[in-house]
Amino acid sequence: MAERKLGVGVLGLHEGRTLLVGLSHTIPDSVSHGRLLGPGEVGRAQFCRPVAGCDLRQEKIDACRAVCPDIFYTKDYADMLARPDVDVVVIYTPDSVHAEHIEQAMRAGKHVVCTKPLINSVEGAARIVAAHKETGMQLMVGQSTRFFEPFRRQRAAFEQGDVGQVEFVDAHYTHRMDWYYEKSPWVKETTDWIFLGLSHPIDLVRWYLGEIASVSAVSYRSALAQEHGAKSHDVYSAQFTAKDGRIGRAFGHYGLHELPSARNCIELMLYGDKGTSQAQYHDMRYRHTGPAGEEMTEDCLYAMRGYYFDNEVHGMHYGEFSNYTDAFCRSLIEGSRCSPDMKEGIDVFCLMESARLSAREGRPVNPAEIRALIPDF
Ligand SMILES: NC(=O)c1ccc[n+]([C@@H]2O[C@H](COP(=O)([O-])OP(=O)(O)OC[C@H]3O[C@@H](n4cnc5c(N)ncnc54)[C@H](O)[C@@H]3O)[C@@H](O)[C@H]2O)c1
Repeated sequence: MAERKLGVGVLGLHEGRTLLVGLSHTIPDSVSHGRLLGPGEVGRAQFCRPVAGCDLRQEKIDACRAVCPDIFYTKDYADMLARPDVDVVVIYTPDSVHAEHIEQAMRAGKHVVCTKPLINSVEGAARIVAAHKETGMQLMVGQSTRFFEPFRRQRAAFEQGDVGQVEFVDAHYTHRMDWYYEKSPWVKETTDWIFLGLSHPIDLVRWYLGEIASVSAVSYRSALAQEHGAKSHDVYSAQFTAKDGRIGRAFGHYGLHELPSARNCIELMLYGDKGTSQAQYHDMRYRHTGPAGEEMTEDCLYAMRGYYFDNEVHGMHYGEFSNYTDAFCRSLIEGSRCSPDMKEGIDVFCLMESARLSAREGRPVNPAEIRALIPDF
C-alpha cells in the first residue's frame, strides 16, 4: 500500500458517479496484480481515495451520496477546489467546458484527470497548454478503452513483440445514441461526434501507429442525428497514414441499429507482421493468433465482470475509471510518466480535428497544420 493515498475530487456526477462507485467498491489492477477477482471480492484503490464530489444538480449529488456517503459534496466547483484534501480533480462535465474546468483546477494547484475527449477546440487546447505551462500541474486523459481488460492484454502482448510490427490498425466505436440526445442535449449544439465518439478509436490508432502524417476522412449525418437536430455529423470513416507509411482506419456511427454479438461497440484489430489480435469492449474478449497460427480466445467476462461492471449490465466503466485514476495517482506519487498524458491528448485532438476538417473540406489534412495553431510546451 502507498504511504499516502491522494485525495480525489470528482466534477460532474453523472459519469463521475461511476468513478466514485469504482473507487469505493473495486480493486484496481495495481492491487490485484492482474489476478482474476473472485465473485463478490471487494477492496480499495491503492494510490487514491475519493474525498469530494461536485455537480450543479442536486439529484446527481443525492445519487452519489447514496453509494458513497462519507465524502464532501457541493454544487460549487470553487468550494471543491478550495479544499486541501483534494489533490487530484477528475472531470466528467460536457466536452465543451473541459478546457475551462481543467484550467480552473490547475490554477487552484490541483493535478487533473479529464475524461475523453480532452478538448474539442483549438482555443481549448491553447488554454490548457497555457495553464499547464504556468502552473506545472500534471494531466492525464481518462481514456477508458485503453484501461479495459482485453485492451490491456492486447497492449502487453504487443509490447512483448507477439504481433511484431503493426502494419494496419482497424478501430471502431459505434453505438445508437438516441438515449444520449435525451439525457445530454448539449451534444446537439456544443460538440461533434468526431470528438465525443471517435476519441476512442482515434486514440487507439495513434497509440499503435505513432506520429501521423496524413488524415483523410468522409462523414455523414444519420437519420437519427437529423431527427434530434444534431449540428454535427455522426457517421465518420477516417484513414490515417503514419510518418513511416503504415496505415490505420477509425470508424464511428452513432445512429445505427446495433448487432452487438456480431460487432462489439468498440473493437481494435492489430494486423502485424508476426500475428493478429483483437480486443473488444464490452464482451471482454481478447483474441489473438498463437505460436502455430492457431486462433486463441481469452474471455474475461465472467471472471472480471464484478470488477469492470460491478456485476451490472455490460457497458459500465467502474474498472477502467478506477484503473486510470489509480495509475495517475501512482505516477504522481512515484514521479513516473503517466499515459495518455497532455502531449498525447493534444496529439489526439489534432487528429480528430484533422479528420473533421478533412471530411468538411474534402482534402487530406496533415495534423501538423492543426498542431501549428497550438503553443508548444
Ligand atoms: N468511456 C468514457 O470514458 C466516457 C463515457 C461516457 C461519457 N464520457 C464523457 O464524460 C463527459 C460527461 O458525460 P456524461 O454522459 O456524464 O454527461 P451528462 O450530461 O450526463 O453529465 C454532465 C454533468 O456535469 C454537470 N456539470 C456541468 N457543468 C458543471 C459545473 N460547472 N459544475 C458542476 N457540475 C457541472 C451536469 O450537471 C451533469 O450532471 C463527456 O465529456 C463525455 O464525453 C466518457
